Amino acid sequence: MSRRNNQGNAGMSITVVGSGYVGLVAATCFAELGHSVICVDNNQQRIARLQHGHVPIYEDLLPELLRKHVGERLIFTTDLAEAVKASTAIFIAVGTPTAENGEADLSAVQYVIEEIADSMDGYKIIVEKSTVPVQTSDWIASILLCRGISRTCFDIVSNPEFLREGTAITDFMHPDRIIVGTTSHRAWEIMRDIYAPLSEGYYYASGSSVPGRCSIDQTPPLIRTSPASSELIKHAANAFLAMKISFINSVANLCEAVGADIQEIALGIGTDRRIGKGFLNAGIGYGGSCFPKDVTAFCSVASQFGVDLDLLVQVREINAQQRERFLTKVRTTLGSLHGKKLGILGLAFKGGTDDVRESPALSIIASLLQDGCSIIAHDPVAITNTQNVLQHHALTYTNDPYSVADQCDAILVLTDWQEFAQLDFVEIKRRLKTPIVFDGRNLLNIDTMSAMGFTYLGVGRPPVTRSTLHRSLTHSVAAIAT
Ligand code: UDX
Repeated sequence: MSRRNNQGNAGMSITVVGSGYVGLVAATCFAELGHSVICVDNNQQRIARLQHGHVPIYEDLLPELLRKHVGERLIFTTDLAEAVKASTAIFIAVGTPTAENGEADLSAVQYVIEEIADSMDGYKIIVEKSTVPVQTSDWIASILLCRGISRTCFDIVSNPEFLREGTAITDFMHPDRIIVGTTSHRAWEIMRDIYAPLSEGYYYASGSSVPGRCSIDQTPPLIRTSPASSELIKHAANAFLAMKISFINSVANLCEAVGADIQEIALGIGTDRRIGKGFLNAGIGYGGSCFPKDVTAFCSVASQFGVDLDLLVQVREINAQQRERFLTKVRTTLGSLHGKKLGILGLAFKGGTDDVRESPALSIIASLLQDGCSIIAHDPVAITNTQNVLQHHALTYTNDPYSVADQCDAILVLTDWQEFAQLDFVEIKRRLKTPIVFDGRNLLNIDTMSAMGFTYLGVGRPPVTRSTLHRSLTHSVAAIAT
């Protein structure tokens, strides 16, 4: 079942069910930690491609680690039964999308647990890696018991993942903390062994470790909780971060009304260590596969238990309004958009990823197209994914960031790709019909844009205006503020 790995600890036999973002990253990182990992998915095509070295997602360091471990410590298969038999720990990392009623849809989890039950041949720990509602571990145990599995043959563990897309590998290898929610001492010891290379630090001492902030002297804490607490920690963490973003966006709106600068406010409050600097970037709101889904699911869980999480309803509402406010700014500044041409920089829900799920950029583009303008859009890696979900005769894509400016009435920055800030804006200005930039991510330097003669509108920052546009912009900001 286990063998010694090159750091001297016992490498565990692990199955990860699901080869999406969380499953693929977790499986790859467990292999990097020295474990023998089987990653299972029922999507035959995806598994075949992974077996042949195809990397299905854009994720920093993932191609390198897959090359290092596939066929050695990491194998891909569609055979869940064989994987279960070969493993001590089975991590569930299948999708838990939002159902129509706002609850998490656990049907994929249920299907996998039933299949696991039918293949179990001895003691296993079943680990929830997907984000699931509180008390899911009890529900999983009841499914196994109903399938005739003895209570002594399994333990359930909640071990939520806090990885961010784009930096998922580094987040996994250098976590702020590792949460292990279980009532079983036996399961706790197995989980402690699995994460020992990180929590005891010897992974960081190895010459080839993924670089990051942890080290042999600064190891991540392994925090043991009850399963229910662990399940709530994941939802509460994401909800808190979403709340921070909606908070700073609300203050940004106030900044626009009074002429203050949200960047200065973020610095001024973020340097208070109790608040912290992270997640205080104002903009067009949060998106992605986690925050929108998890905030909705958390509200739904709370209401099932008779607890009012109205605060989070507001968080969602503010997030939706943020896109509308940005659209209003564009419409009020440019007047009718009919027949106008806009250049878009950024399609992904944030920089560093090709993921466009719940991307604010896509919903803003869809609204602008309805106004009758034409759009040319660029993203370093998310064009293909966007083309799969957004097609319109007036929408074209380009791999050249400078062509988005050609004969356009304005440029809109919708994703915080750092390379956008490095573009030659003299060249962009030369190509634009009118030098107007709407910066939905506050990515660009306001003074530089001003010195270059751009009309520049960020979020929660004083607008930089050219005199000819001054009247309409003053009107625009006042209209949005009210
Ligand atoms: C998030 C959590 O950070 C992670 O712990 C969890 O496991 C999954 O969900 P991710 O969705 O990859 O990760 O992205 P994140 O970097 O958290 O950003 C989420 C959204 O918030 C993005 O749309 C981003 O643009 C937006 N955001 C983030 C802001 O608008 N302002 C900020 O200050 C930070």
